[in-house]
Amino acid sequence: MSRKALIAANWKMYKTPTEAEAFVKAFLPLVAGHTRDEIALFPSPVLLPAVIAACKGSQVAVGAQNIYFAEEGAYTGETSIGQLIAVGGTHTLIGHSERRQYFGETDEIVNKKLHTALKHKIVPVVCIGEVLAEREAGKTEDVLKTQVTGAFAGINGLSPEAISLIVIAYEPVWAIGTGKTATPEMAADAHRIVRAEVAKLLGADVANKMRILYGGSVKPDNATALLSQEEIDGALVGGASLKPDSFTAIVKY
Ligand code: 13P
Repeated sequence: MSRKALIAANWKMYKTPTEAEAFVKAFLPLVAGHTRDEIALFPSPVLLPAVIAACKGSQVAVGAQNIYFAEEGAYTGETSIGQLIAVGGTHTLIGHSERRQYFGETDEIVNKKLHTALKHKIVPVVCIGEVLAEREAGKTEDVLKTQVTGAFAGINGLSPEAISLIVIAYEPVWAIGTGKTATPEMAADAHRIVRAEVAKLLGADVANKMRILYGGSVKPDNATALLSQEEIDGALVGGASLKPDSFTAIVKY
């Protein structure tokens, strides 16, 4: 089963609009004609209009790092899916470990956000992953199964078209921003656990088609080893996505 890889940049809380535009201006020529993989950028909400305008006419998609599950209302500080769509965004991260860790996002919230994204045909990149203490206690498999089951509650009633949009990103929390990467084999093992759980919930066919990205200290020098694993269908890149040359090197692994 060949799945088209998605190489995604999570810029987190970095860059001004001017810096973001400069990135895109330098980056697009470097990936011109690159169609082997899908490419997406996830900037902060205030950068979205500038980045979307700069990427117009290219193959590079742009999405939000987070959306709220309610359609609109008195939710100070949040971004709605309608606002994302209105500025031309097509993707969103959901349940990034930093959202879970610092902003109290639970599997239940992740599930609500996933339903909202799918209702509006926005590609959701659902982030899961164990913390170090969980891995050391031998609980990785349980944690991943619980996160997948929680995120996907009620999803099996949706249309096949909606379900086909879902992307999962496996990001072991101990590998994020630490320079410690899961070995390709560790990542592939985790991906197999996740895919088996998706198969249980949504069927083998859906599971075989679903892309599972790896994230956590992906760099130009480890991208090839990770991405040549059959089970790894792309990367969600933090630090190394901030510079056009290093992100390009990962895109072109
Ligand atoms: P780093 O690549 O900086 O480890 O970040 C990974 C990440 O959190 C991507 O969402």
